[in-house]
Amino acid sequence: MIHLTDGQSFRALLLYHIIISLLLLQSSAGPYKMAGPSQPIVAKLGDDIILPCHLEPEVSAVSMTLEWWRPDLNPKFVHVWRDGKDELADQNPSYKGRTSLFIEELKNGNVSLKLSKVELSDNGTYRCYIPTLSKESFITLTVGI
Ligand SMILES: *[C@@H]1O[C@H](CO)[C@@H](O)[C@H](O)[C@H]1NC(C)=O
Ligand SMILES: *[C@@H]1O[C@H](CO)[C@@H](O)[C@H](O)[C@H]1NC(C)=O
Repeated sequence: MIHLTDGQSFRALLLYHIIISLLLLQSSAGPYKMAGPSQPIVAKLGDDIILPCHLEPEVSAVSMTLEWWRPDLNPKFVHVWRDGKDELADQNPSYKGRTSLFIEELKNGNVSLKLSKVELSDNGTYRCYIPTLSKESFITLTVGI
């Protein structure tokens, strides 16, 4: 039988909480960062562009779910990758046939989105999000004429 004074049991409890918090932090967030550009991407009407986004350190995103979306749209999805393939059933119709991922780059954690024939309505902020890692990055696209 171990007898703890109030101070000791308080410290034990505190230590317990710190360890649990660290474990939770590690399992939910991992060491990964989602990196995007610090400046807005500037495009002209009709351009083909890349919205950059990648995982650091490099880890394959092939088997992860990846969501590109715009919080201000309804439906909000611009492009979704799930179960190793494109999942475009919920894609916003204005992006139909204009988005693609660099499939060969996914294994390097490069989840950048290619957007073709930029339209004025593409102007806005995009969210590049990997739910499994709870990681996201916001990319702003500014469209000029
Ligand atoms: C991701 O892939 C695109 C297309 O190949 C490329 O332009 C971009 O530089 C790559 N990003 C990184 C971080 O490697
Ligand atoms: C484009 O989006 C930016 C914010 O991302 C906004 O400040 C600007 O007013 C928008 N321009 C147009 C033409 O909608």
